[in-house]
Amino acid sequence: MMITKDNRSHGAVGMGMSAGGTQAHGGGSGSAASLVSVALTINGTKHAVTLDPRTTLLDLLREQLDLTGTKKGCDQGQCGACTVLIDGRRVVSCLTLAVTKDGASVTTIEGLAQDGTLHPLQQAFIDHDAFQCGYCTPGQICSAAGLIAEGKAKTADEIRELMSGNICRCGAYPHIVAAIQQVMGRS
Ligand code: FES
Ligand code: FES
Repeated sequence: MMITKDNRSHGAVGMGMSAGGTQAHGGGSGSAASLVSVALTINGTKHAVTLDPRTTLLDLLREQLDLTGTKKGCDQGQCGACTVLIDGRRVVSCLTLAVTKDGASVTTIEGLAQDGTLHPLQQAFIDHDAFQCGYCTPGQICSAAGLIAEGKAKTADEIRELMSGNICRCGAYPHIVAAIQQVMGRS
């Protein structure tokens, strides 16, 4: 079941329990009897993980896989700092149970650059000085990638509306919109 809030969807309920992949990771806080196996492709690499079924995708990424580019802000689905792409759709990973995404393909900020070349959005954020502390930036960039793929936003107002789930406490919004417009102009 998917619960939609603001401009993105949050996987919330259900369990997929299968295993596979090429990299194995143990861990999780549950007892052995309650652990489940999940297979995910993350940034192009297959991972077989064993985890407590209550583990969020965010905690799996950060705590078990050391992919700390994805940030934990509110941990309640309110700030967008934890946004990643799941099968191309932007999702807040703090409200997504990892077991519900068995077999899915996840892209985090670490997976956007290709062969040492920054993703156009990463470069545009630099070009437009679209961050100060940078804490929200991985989520902003993943969300913007999803936004562009959706193809719904045509104007600055529409970008602002459809990026409204990503909070920037530093108030870099005008620069963020400019960066996204730069990339939209190319695509
Ligand atoms: Fe997920 Fe804030 S940490 S929305
Ligand atoms: Fe600091 Fe956005 S750059 S929260």
